[in-house]
Amino acid sequence: MKLTLKVWRQKNSQDKGGFENYFLDNVDADASFLEMFDVLNDKLINEGKDPVAFDHDCREGICGTCSMYINGRAHGPRQATTTCQLHMRFFNDGDTIVVEPWRAKSFPVIKDLVVDRSAFDRIIAAGGYVSVNTGQAPEANSIPVEKDKSDIAFESAACIACGACVAACKNSSAMLFVAAKVSHLALLPQGDVEHSGRVLDMVVQMEREGFGGCTNTNACEAECPKEISVTNIARLNREYMKASLSYSKP
Ligand code: SF4
Ligand code: FES
Repeated sequence: MKLTLKVWRQKNSQDKGGFENYFLDNVDADASFLEMFDVLNDKLINEGKDPVAFDHDCREGICGTCSMYINGRAHGPRQATTTCQLHMRFFNDGDTIVVEPWRAKSFPVIKDLVVDRSAFDRIIAAGGYVSVNTGQAPEANSIPVEKDKSDIAFESAACIACGACVAACKNSSAMLFVAAKVSHLALLPQGDVEHSGRVLDMVVQMEREGFGGCTNTNACEAECPKEISVTNIARLNREYMKASLSYSKP
């Protein structure tokens, strides 16, 4: 395949940045989007130019780092697909592909396509865990969990913290991410113990980080590579409301 890539280049968060055009021929249709970028970077390095900085780790749709806006869509044109799982056969020979970083104030650009998503880490550090010391791993069936609840908790736990929901939202809201984390723990008996304090602390931290509120456009759900449902946001709102009315910190 022959491709023209229009890639956002930005030296650092202070740099104004701009698009640069690159031409590739002989792109393997079975290559992933990131493998295609590897080929581009080899070419740039051979030409003595600065390779394009982009994030990746697992390349298996698990780590959540391969954040790219491709042709105006978070993680590209395919539903339920991370950038690393997107293959070049989903593009046409001769295409021009526009690649940009996530754009949200709370995710400042570090370089080119790499953004700083540590705001998510700070939200998790505020309460997105179970702090009770559970000792030895218990017998698998010693804490019964209702099947319908465990199914929903499992679906919420699929969130990989990629940030596509934030990037897709016109208000840069992090509600889908926070809602997935809150739901996953609140629905299980092990996480239920701390559910009130957790939701209050995580929402406070989310607001401190400067994410906007939910705009109810469902853009987050549409672009989420793990198909996290917006029903989690409704659960987050209920959890938050209940906790604000009935909970005071010990
Ligand atoms: S909710 Fe979906 S889009 Fe948002 S961080 Fe989690 S996996 Fe990514
Ligand atoms: S590189 Fe890990 S999810 Fe894409």
